[in-house]
Amino acid sequence: MWAGRFQKALDKKADDFNSSLRFDCRMYAQDIRGSIAHAKMLNSVGILSAEDLGLIVNGLTAIQADIESGVLSFDTNAEDIHMFIEGELTKRIGDAGKRLHTARSRNDQVAVDIRLYLRDEAETVIALIKEAILAITQQAEENAETIAPGYTHLQRAQPISFGHHLLAYAMMLRRDVGRISDAVARMNAECPLGSCALAGTTYPIDRAQTAAALGFDAPSWNSIDGVSDRDFCLELMSAFSVLMTHLSRLSEEIILWSSWEFKFIELDDSYTTGSSIMPQKKNPDMAELIRGKTGRVYGDLQALLTTLKGLPLAYNKDMQEDKEAIFDALDSVKMCLEVLTPMIATMKVLPKNTYRAAQKGFINATDLADYLVKKGMPFRTAYKIVGTIVAECIEKDCVLDNFPLADYQKHSELFAEDLYGEISLETCVNKRLSEGGASPASVKAQVEKIHAFLAK
Ligand code: ARG
Repeated sequence: MWAGRFQKALDKKADDFNSSLRFDCRMYAQDIRGSIAHAKMLNSVGILSAEDLGLIVNGLTAIQADIESGVLSFDTNAEDIHMFIEGELTKRIGDAGKRLHTARSRNDQVAVDIRLYLRDEAETVIALIKEAILAITQQAEENAETIAPGYTHLQRAQPISFGHHLLAYAMMLRRDVGRISDAVARMNAECPLGSCALAGTTYPIDRAQTAAALGFDAPSWNSIDGVSDRDFCLELMSAFSVLMTHLSRLSEEIILWSSWEFKFIELDDSYTTGSSIMPQKKNPDMAELIRGKTGRVYGDLQALLTTLKGLPLAYNKDMQEDKEAIFDALDSVKMCLEVLTPMIATMKVLPKNTYRAAQKGFINATDLADYLVKKGMPFRTAYKIVGTIVAECIEKDCVLDNFPLADYQKHSELFAEDLYGEISLETCVNKRLSEGGASPASVKAQVEKIHAFLAK
């Protein structure tokens, strides 16, 4: 392409090193879409004849069809997808193909292509997250009445509906949808096309036309920023990293819950693996891999942040490294969601086991203190009395539910027979009716809200 200035071809190893085709070829459709918008604009401002425009549009359309049908394969000798398509077009239509790159540079071309590509992919990720939210919500609905221990510090804390615990993850994923949508909105706000190499152009181009044709709100305000900005990649990868944090926390719980120590759930055979030596094993590999891939997505974000931090304006070849990072993060997130959703949908919750776990650990102690408070005792006094009773129970190897009334009454005369009903697990959970609380009724209200969110 630049044979005029050079006497020698690029060294073979250097050429391979320089080429981005093997990973940027996935943006072929976006590259063609951008080129058609650019050519139409060149024609409408009088830079490109109608005849050349017709050849270019038909040529590019045919190239896209040939790539998609497999007739045309990517030539790995091309430096990148932009050069490959322009070269192929020129091969097919001659001089008209050579006119396409007027008032354009690969610098603004690639900046627009990545945006077009990521905008569509981000919508796919949003759809996948919504499917995950739905699977979680369905499990939560089915387990609204399932009593389980809620934890702090991984110590049994208070009894809750297991559905309530699951819905906490639906809330996280709901925010992830918001974060990705925000990133997409900014990605779509400004179109870099027309920034050219870095300084704009002396041609009378119409940047508003290309921006509108490609679905952007407006042209970018500054041509140097237009070609050197990769914030949209960083923002999307940040949102992906937060999303992966959530998927990883959920995976960690799935791993714990499916262990014999907990046995709160049984994963479906189709999402677990066995061991090559231990015949009894059923391992939660999918959840472990999701937890594992989280590190890799964080790494992709860290890699691009580091690549960008020392770059002088405007375009530098270092920026070609943006694509492998963002594509890897994107592919990882999609794969994780595609496995997580059916794994959640098919897992069996074991209510007897969650109930049994809730019976130990004095998780109704707060409710016993509240019982005294409702009879007029200040909370701190009640808290202290219940603490002393718990210590006595541990000594006598009993639980609050079978600690004798006579012994209770040694601590306070406010204790009466009705206390046992007040501290039963069912009462503790069913009465947590405060908005967003752990009761089955609250779970049902949350489920309604989520369905309304998903329907939007
Ligand atoms: N393959 C390049 C990239 O991905 C395209 C832009 C190259 N521009 C240039 N002047 N070398 O960043």
